[in-house]
Amino acid sequence: MEITYYGQSCFLFQIGEHRVLFDPFISPNELASNIDVDSIKADYILISHGHQDHVHDAERIAKNNNATIVATFEIANWFGQKGVEKTHPMNTGGKVTLPFGTVKMVNAIHSSSLPDGTYAGTAAGFVVETEDKAFYFAGDTALTYDMKLIPEQFDLDFALMPIGDNFTMDIHNALIAADFVQVDKLIGMHYDTFPYIEIDHEEVKEVAKMAGKELILMEIGESINL
Ligand code: NI
Ligand code: MN
Repeated sequence: MEITYYGQSCFLFQIGEHRVLFDPFISPNELASNIDVDSIKADYILISHGHQDHVHDAERIAKNNNATIVATFEIANWFGQKGVEKTHPMNTGGKVTLPFGTVKMVNAIHSSSLPDGTYAGTAAGFVVETEDKAFYFAGDTALTYDMKLIPEQFDLDFALMPIGDNFTMDIHNALIAADFVQVDKLIGMHYDTFPYIEIDHEEVKEVAKMAGKELILMEIGESINL
């Protein structure tokens, strides 16, 4: 599958003929000023929680593409009220089979409300299992023992984890989380966008290497194949 990074926690996965976007926050992100939001094609938009830095461009991209927003019941309803025609409401622990694979909503330890203050349910992560690969998108979360439940149910190939600290895990906790979910390959997210979450790239890569893990820090606009 091909993965393109749009900054913060926003990634586009090309899975076969399907395009799955996570946590779109692009237009307010100065680091992502080279990205044309209206050129992004997506069939599904998965949203981990309601915070601005995960939802800002979701309505625009969903309407541009007639895409389906997959999120908690509360977030799905909020976008439905904004005129997004296709939404799929879920809640933690639930699973749905979509054209590109199976999506399970898993626990994240974090707060969640929408930009206008609307209650957004609890924050979540996603485990996506496709014909080709299985991966874990952790969303914004603290390190939690709940992550150990994931490899009891899924054989993951890689995980996307927040490493910016302050609002989420730092690299040290993300590496423990990688052990909990039993992956050796990590894509870092949720760093550098704001002063609170700036990181030293060389330092985090060294810390990951010392732990025997591969940490991928993608350039904004870059695509890789995994
Ligand atoms: Ni958040
Ligand atoms: Mn966030």
